[in-house]
Amino acid sequence: MESSFTDKTVLVTGASRGIGKAIAIAFAEAGAKVLVHYNKNNIAAEETLAELTGNQHKLIQADISDPDSVYEMVEKLSAENGKIDILVNNAGIYEEANMLELSYEEFREYFSNTMNTNLVGVANLSFLVIKEMIGAGGGKIINISSRGAFRGEPFALAYGASKAGMNSFGQSLAVALASKNILVYTIAPGFVETDMTTEILQGTRGDAIKNQSPLHRVARPEEIAKTVIFLASEGTEYMTGCIVDINGASYLRS
Ligand SMILES: NC(=O)c1ccc[n+]([C@@H]2O[C@H](COP(=O)([O-])OP(=O)(O)OC[C@H]3O[C@@H](n4cnc5c(N)ncnc54)[C@H](OP(=O)(O)O)[C@@H]3O)[C@@H](O)[C@H]2O)c1
Repeated sequence: MESSFTDKTVLVTGASRGIGKAIAIAFAEAGAKVLVHYNKNNIAAEETLAELTGNQHKLIQADISDPDSVYEMVEKLSAENGKIDILVNNAGIYEEANMLELSYEEFREYFSNTMNTNLVGVANLSFLVIKEMIGAGGGKIINISSRGAFRGEPFALAYGASKAGMNSFGQSLAVALASKNILVYTIAPGFVETDMTTEILQGTRGDAIKNQSPLHRVARPEEIAKTVIFLASEGTEYMTGCIVDINGASYLRS
């Protein structure tokens, strides 16, 4: 198993905070050059950059939900940093809404907002990076999906649908791109301790959510990062197309 990513360039989307930050730190510790992507939170992204081992890393901004912004980011990265060996599609949003209380207009806005970030944005970025990867002889894509794709998301219908779409997109890419030496993996975490979940975990649902797992806790971002590093390592090629659960046995599939 490859333990070092020296000479590898990794684009981690949503690396300003949470899971993406932990992934960026883990790749930097393993010797990679990390392209630390963020959207609005420049200060947090600067903090991530400052915490990375080594000084070869770069910050890059783009709104994943905006096709032009994604295009400009990939153009810039291609011109300034050369090839991207590994793309981690981590950036995402989780919005709750009670469908029964929304007007049709509100529902469309809610649904498209999540879809444009979590699915359409991921597809657009993947499309552009794949073109670059093919030119460079291959690469790896690791998508951060969610347990919600399987379990259902009654409080966040669009989120569950976006992650189910991501699962299918990743599986299709794995088949379509194997001949181009591009391997595609998906990780489906249950609840993870990040800004995305702070309010929920501290609220009335918090204890019940923690007790969904026989470990009586949610995941730490570093636990997701460890699996990303594993999948990005040499020797996992035959796992292409997989969806790896990291949910503390809170939702078991067979
Ligand atoms: N936390 C969980 O329980 C959990 C469980 C399963 C799956 N996941 C998935 O794991 C991924 C990371 O989640 P997290 O918990 O680390 O979230 P988080 O702490 O809320 O951080 C979200 C990250 O995504 C970026 N982002 C959000 N909207 C964006 C947009 N339109 N364009 C570009 N970047 C955008 C944010 O950038 P800025 O900071 O610059 O705004 C931030 O870096 C997400 O895909 C999420 O669905 C999370």
